[in-house]
Amino acid sequence: MDLFAGPGGLDVAAEKLGVATVGVEWDSAACTTRRAAGLATIEGDVRDYGPSDFPDADVLAGGPPCQTFTVAGSGAGRRALDDVLTFIKRVAAREPRDQINRDLAKMEDDRTGLVLEPLRWALEAIDNGKPFKAIVLEQVPAVLPVWKAYEEILTAEGYATDSGILRTEEYGVPQTRKRAVLIARKDAEKVSLPEATHRPYRKGVKREIGDSRLHPWVSMGETLNRSHPFLVISNYGTGGDPKARGRRGSWEPSATVTGKITRNRLVTETGEELTRFTFSEAGSLQTFPADYPWSGNDIGQQIGNAVPPLLAIHVLSAAFGWDAPSDETLGKLALWRDRASEIQQLTESAGALE
Ligand SMILES: C[S@@+](CC[C@H](N)C(=O)[O-])C[C@H]1O[C@@H](n2cnc3c(N)ncnc32)[C@H](O)[C@@H]1O
Repeated sequence: MDLFAGPGGLDVAAEKLGVATVGVEWDSAACTTRRAAGLATIEGDVRDYGPSDFPDADVLAGGPPCQTFTVAGSGAGRRALDDVLTFIKRVAAREPRDQINRDLAKMEDDRTGLVLEPLRWALEAIDNGKPFKAIVLEQVPAVLPVWKAYEEILTAEGYATDSGILRTEEYGVPQTRKRAVLIARKDAEKVSLPEATHRPYRKGVKREIGDSRLHPWVSMGETLNRSHPFLVISNYGTGGDPKARGRRGSWEPSATVTGKITRNRLVTETGEELTRFTFSEAGSLQTFPADYPWSGNDIGQQIGNAVPPLLAIHVLSAAFGWDAPSDETLGKLALWRDRASEIQQLTESAGALE
């Protein structure tokens, strides 16, 4: 059960692990991609549904849109975080939903209510006597204090939990991106975030250097089918200086893929302009299969919003208490069409039974 399902980063990972998914997503563009990919989709608002609408779902996953709390410790960021933490306590205390909703309606930022949704789903499922067996949540690093508050409540409800910041390049994603991840498993003694498989990227440090038990990080050049080495020049400045554009070479992992990735310039080492990233290439930097059927409007934004499926495969396996995924499983991310046709066949045979 994938809440705020986007174009399907988490679902692609689950499907490749052989786990059927259904996603709730309200953005019609993301839903267009999901349907083209054959992913089961409810186009609607997560707040209008609950676990009793999906009685067969036994895993809850999601990345709710959140305030980024970037200035936590002072001013608006701290207040936003405090508000969310207060609401979390009220949800955990099973305060009536309409009472909480009345106060949420007074909040300036709609996202205060959205970040509570996975907790509402988890607790409603418990109260219905059908708790989710595993829970997986992800967001930007600033959301970690929210996941810590979730953890406390889920632990009291009989879940083993773990949370922390994961770096995508440490799982073989050709991109540096940090995510706050929470995993929880019911009736388990212990659950642990997945072990890194690759070395962390540090600017200027050769990839051969570091823990010899781990693979070197993966570069853009190894992932994309370009004939020349290239330099990516970010559309943004770094360190607040608009002229200091971030740069990464094709021999390095990509910088964090954002919704604006296709605006980045690509040049050769002598400064010659190259064609910019295609959607398929941007999707590959997020470890989506190269043939993923990106569709609808604002595809760049859909890609930037997603969880890299390769990271998600590791995180889901850890949450299920499974061994680290095999090379064979990871290799399945190369292409989508095989899994898409399997989903199609399953849907058709389910239709025939009805
Ligand atoms: C960060 S993205 C999630 C990406 C997704 N986990 C993936 O891996 O592809 C958040 C998504 O939540 C969706 N969203 C925001 N508010 C929503 C709501 N109330 N109901 C349903 N979807 C919502 C947005 O349209 C966006 O696609």
